[in-house]
Amino acid sequence: MWTATTKQDLRSKLPGLPRPVILVPTMGALHPGHASLIELARKRAGENGTVIVSIFVNPIQFDRPSDLEKYPRCLDADLTVCRKNGADGVFIPEDGEMYFTDRSVTVIESSLSKHLCGATRPGHFDGVCTVVLKLFNLTRCDAAVFGEKDFQQLAIIRRMLRDLDLGTEIIPHPTVRENDGLAMSSRNGRLTPEQRVSAPRIRQALTIAAEKSSVDDILSTARNFIEESPFAKIDYLSLVDAETLAPADDLSSKRVLACAVFYGEVRLIDHITIKPRA
Ligand code: PAJ
Repeated sequence: MWTATTKQDLRSKLPGLPRPVILVPTMGALHPGHASLIELARKRAGENGTVIVSIFVNPIQFDRPSDLEKYPRCLDADLTVCRKNGADGVFIPEDGEMYFTDRSVTVIESSLSKHLCGATRPGHFDGVCTVVLKLFNLTRCDAAVFGEKDFQQLAIIRRMLRDLDLGTEIIPHPTVRENDGLAMSSRNGRLTPEQRVSAPRIRQALTIAAEKSSVDDILSTARNFIEESPFAKIDYLSLVDAETLAPADDLSSKRVLACAVFYGEVRLIDHITIKPRA
């Protein structure tokens, strides 16, 4: 498995790489959720294709400098995960490598990012789109794997592809969960033991609420169930249209019930799809 730490280094590898080239963009601190994405990329690339993982803690998608500083960095363990799950190469740009100090061009998404996580994190998804577009350009990948766990991120990246006519194929991967249903996240390790016991309620709440037959019932059931835990503080809980991510007040087409919940300082997200009702 090769590694490249500069753009030039990466570019020098590209001419010889067998296609398809499949990229798995990450910020490192890799857990079994990320590992499954790499494994899926390996399957889709076949024996002869190329799987590239990128590990880059993208500064322009962090709205709070303290979050950026606190982001876990464990490169040796990450490289082991990449190797074990079939990556051919890992792109690990240095901080100063990706952005010019006088950078003046950015991707701006002005609709889907107004909702859900984007409502309280201005500029976050512009930072995600900008880095993802750069990674697509740098690796010249044919396809890239993204987790459904970050449902809004996936929707926005698909919108960027549509609006900017990018030819890259997006391969979605279902959310990978712990045995008790909690969506895997590098943040789970920061929960106290009591918070960790309570956190699977998020998934349970969404699952129970998804069975209800009216918007009000869905929202109140999920809210009450989550708030029964003394540790949980809901940041948002919304029923949105699956395409536009705008709040929905009926169940006439595909909807998504999505939430972000604070356990102390730790903010966890999850969502569930709700099929249209007749
Ligand atoms: P990161 O949070 O490291 O996630 C990298 C990829 O792993 C994303 O596609 C994310 O959706 C996926 N992922 C994380 N946890 C998952 C889980 N439990 N199940 C399935 N997939 C999971 O998302 C980012 O990095 C960044 O925003 C990035 C796209 C790399 C741009 O900087």
